[in-house]
Amino acid sequence: MSDPSTPTLRNIDYSESMNVGRVHESVKREKDIREPGNEPVSLGVYLLLTPLLLLAGGFFGLYHDGGQAPKAPDFDASLIPAGGGGEVDPVAEGKKLFGSVGCAACHQPAGQGQAGIYPPLVDSEWVKGSDKRMAMIIHGGLVGPITVKGNLYNNNMPAQGPLLTPKKMAYIMSFIRHTWGGGASLVTPEQTQLVYDEFKDRTAPWTVDELEKTVPEGEMLPKVGGYGGDDEQAAPDSAGAAAPADAQ
Ligand code: HEC
Repeated sequence: MSDPSTPTLRNIDYSESMNVGRVHESVKREKDIREPGNEPVSLGVYLLLTPLLLLAGGFFGLYHDGGQAPKAPDFDASLIPAGGGGEVDPVAEGKKLFGSVGCAACHQPAGQGQAGIYPPLVDSEWVKGSDKRMAMIIHGGLVGPITVKGNLYNNNMPAQGPLLTPKKMAYIMSFIRHTWGGGASLVTPEQTQLVYDEFKDRTAPWTVDELEKTVPEGEMLPKVGGYGGDDEQAAPDSAGAAAPADAQ
């Protein structure tokens, strides 16, 4: 009966004296040996993890705000005149543009400037003062000495007029004046258009000297255009005031 080709199998369980059932009984009594890393998890671990998972879920529920972006803290909706229009928020638009068109690269994202190089816009008398002078600086650029908040700067700002449109400039000015200029008046695209028109042939940057000669202290742009409220509407004859008082 023995097969010479499988010598190692010979005699296993074929002996009459061995009971196959008994041999297998002892095998059955052995506990399963699991692969390492595949052992069953103890109850204690479950007990520990469950409250943790519940807590995590609770926190997610509490602090998950449904993806709503927080509103810009410095935007005061009451500043936009009520009663119609209102399709554009110049302060919010201006805030976006300020960062994207390049002002922030020099004047810094928070408008604080850089000591000795770029003057601050925050609290600057040039921001809080005449909107016409401010628009002219942005439109034509500025070179030479200028004092801002008691500090002297002597640098040069390239003209931004060609990089902007009257509308973009109006939004940027509205944002800066409202946010950093102590709530100074908003500026409309119709108003900045007047500056583009009046100085369209000008190529040289302004100096403070020239600015002060061209626009007397406190002279504002005529009130033209608006963001929906009557108080921003122009008096029909006020456009004449755009001419420099001391034009030759
Ligand atoms: C390349 C750098 C640069 C960029 C870009 C720039 N500025 Fe200026 N800005 C200056 C410098 C420098 C001065 C001061 C110039 C001088 O010393 O004569 C200045 C002056 C000013 C002033 C008057 C002084 C003050 O601090 O209040 C205003 C207002 C102003 N910039 C607004 C803007 C706005 C708005 C933009 C974007 C549309 C802008 N600037 C982009 C460099 C820059």
